[in-house]
Amino acid sequence: AVLYVPCDAAALAVGADRVADTLAEELSARGVDAQIVRNGSRGMHWLEPLVEVETERGRIAYGPVTPADIAGLLDAGLLEGADHALCHGLTEEMPFLKRQTRLTFSRCGITDPLSLEHYEAHHGFLGLKRALEMTPAEIVQEVTDSGLRGRGGAGFPTGIKWNTVLKAQGDQKYIVCNADEGDSGTFSDRMIMEGDPFVLIEGMAIAGIAVGATKGYIYTRSEYPHAIAILYDAIQIARKAGILGASVMGSEHAFDMEVREGAGAYVCGEETSLLNSLEGKRGIVRAKPPLPAIEGLFGKPTVVNNVMSLASVPIIMDRGARFYRDYGVGYSHGTIPIQLTGNIKNSGLFETAFGLTLNELIYDIGGGTLSGRPVKAVQVGGPLGAYFPPSLFDTIFDYEAFVERNGMIGHAGIVVFDDTVDMLKQARFAMEFCAIESCGKCTPCRIGSVRGVEVLDRIARGDQPEQQIELLTDLCDTMKMGSLCALGGFAPYPVMSSLTHFPQDFHVKPLTDA
Ligand code: NAI
Ligand code: SF4
Repeated sequence: AVLYVPCDAAALAVGADRVADTLAEELSARGVDAQIVRNGSRGMHWLEPLVEVETERGRIAYGPVTPADIAGLLDAGLLEGADHALCHGLTEEMPFLKRQTRLTFSRCGITDPLSLEHYEAHHGFLGLKRALEMTPAEIVQEVTDSGLRGRGGAGFPTGIKWNTVLKAQGDQKYIVCNADEGDSGTFSDRMIMEGDPFVLIEGMAIAGIAVGATKGYIYTRSEYPHAIAILYDAIQIARKAGILGASVMGSEHAFDMEVREGAGAYVCGEETSLLNSLEGKRGIVRAKPPLPAIEGLFGKPTVVNNVMSLASVPIIMDRGARFYRDYGVGYSHGTIPIQLTGNIKNSGLFETAFGLTLNELIYDIGGGTLSGRPVKAVQVGGPLGAYFPPSLFDTIFDYEAFVERNGMIGHAGIVVFDDTVDMLKQARFAMEFCAIESCGKCTPCRIGSVRGVEVLDRIARGDQPEQQIELLTDLCDTMKMGSLCALGGFAPYPVMSSLTHFPQDFHVKPLTDA
């Protein structure tokens, strides 16, 4: 029998290692010859550790499994996929998975992340092989035609960025993967790095061939030790197999890469600050222009792409631009891995074509709040994303639809709050977060965020709230218009959306009392 127990950090955090160890001990005590594969996560976090068993019918899922459940599960016929209180039937038929369109995450949770054999058996390297038969300009055109936009949050067309680097003059060019996933409630980058690292390696190699870069760096957080360990191993394996190195798969193209750990600053996810950090300097934002595409790492033309953007490239190259482009709505093409977190029943990763409404995502797919209380707000797009009230839950997941309503999808994390949340405190948190994480380069952010906390504290105390709200609005305008990067520029979004949609939390009460 073949059993699967995830090695993903989310599963490990709830005891997957102990489950795997207990399972191995029980199986050997019973004299059963079975293989335990440590797979990536299927992304159903509320069921982790999710144990699967391979049967003639397909894989059967059990979860959440604790070490104490193992003996009982084996007695009940786990190896045959027998029914049990923890059994969810065929994994592929589970509604949360069945409703998804898994393109980027097609292998995650299915394969052993470090098995090249598994990777190749599931369409691995087909995109790279096709790219090797094309000219750089053709590859760039294919990515442009696919409509892929930067999944880090800004949504800039990936193909256009690549074209800038392709056309730029430089004796050396670089591919930098931004894996400094810092947004609250997001984990898609981590999940793919831990669950399917070769797809990122393949995407980076294609990017290198497309723009003429021979060296790549994955810049990630020190808070991601499991992802880092898996990437180190995956890169070694790819080198040994001739996928990375002086000749990519026997071609005339050279491409190699390494992993770099950040020291843990949110602003190092901003591309220019990230480049400074990679160069060994302090992670402080650089003014743009020059764009990194022209003068990036060590002053050379550099593609800086998010993990999700690069990991989406292999399937585009394999299935063609048209295949990918046909998913989605408006100018948001393809699929997006949405991360459902916070106070929500079915928390996890849901990859789908753009176009679902927040209502569908929060209630139909997410199952509403875990607390069972009414949803009061959701924050989409990280700590600097806007808060939306239920009256805006008809907004569809699409870059433009969110912008129209003064929000952003960012890195596609949705954090759900029930009616016990105090939106004034959330607004204060945004300003405080900005004050702590500010790189200090520009005044609106460095000073403005500190003043913002003070103003919000005065509102909380009921100290001239009307004047303070005017001051806050003015301050937010200044930060939005005058900040050098998105950190200071976006902090006003959670603040102003809280104030606009939840004025009752901003102590309008003391005003009326007076
Ligand atoms: P931006 O709009 O300034 O740039 C987007 C990208 O396009 C950059 O890589 C830029 O260099 C590139 N670009 C722009 N014009 C170009 C051209 N003509 N040719 C080639 N490349 C060009 O946005 P920025 O500041 O890079 O990112 C802001 C976003 O980051 C926010 O929308 C937010 O959602 C997201 N974010 C994501 C986080 C995460 O953890 N993933 C954390 C914090 C923010
Ligand atoms: Fe630095 Fe903040 Fe200015 Fe960005 S907005 S450059 S983080 S001070």
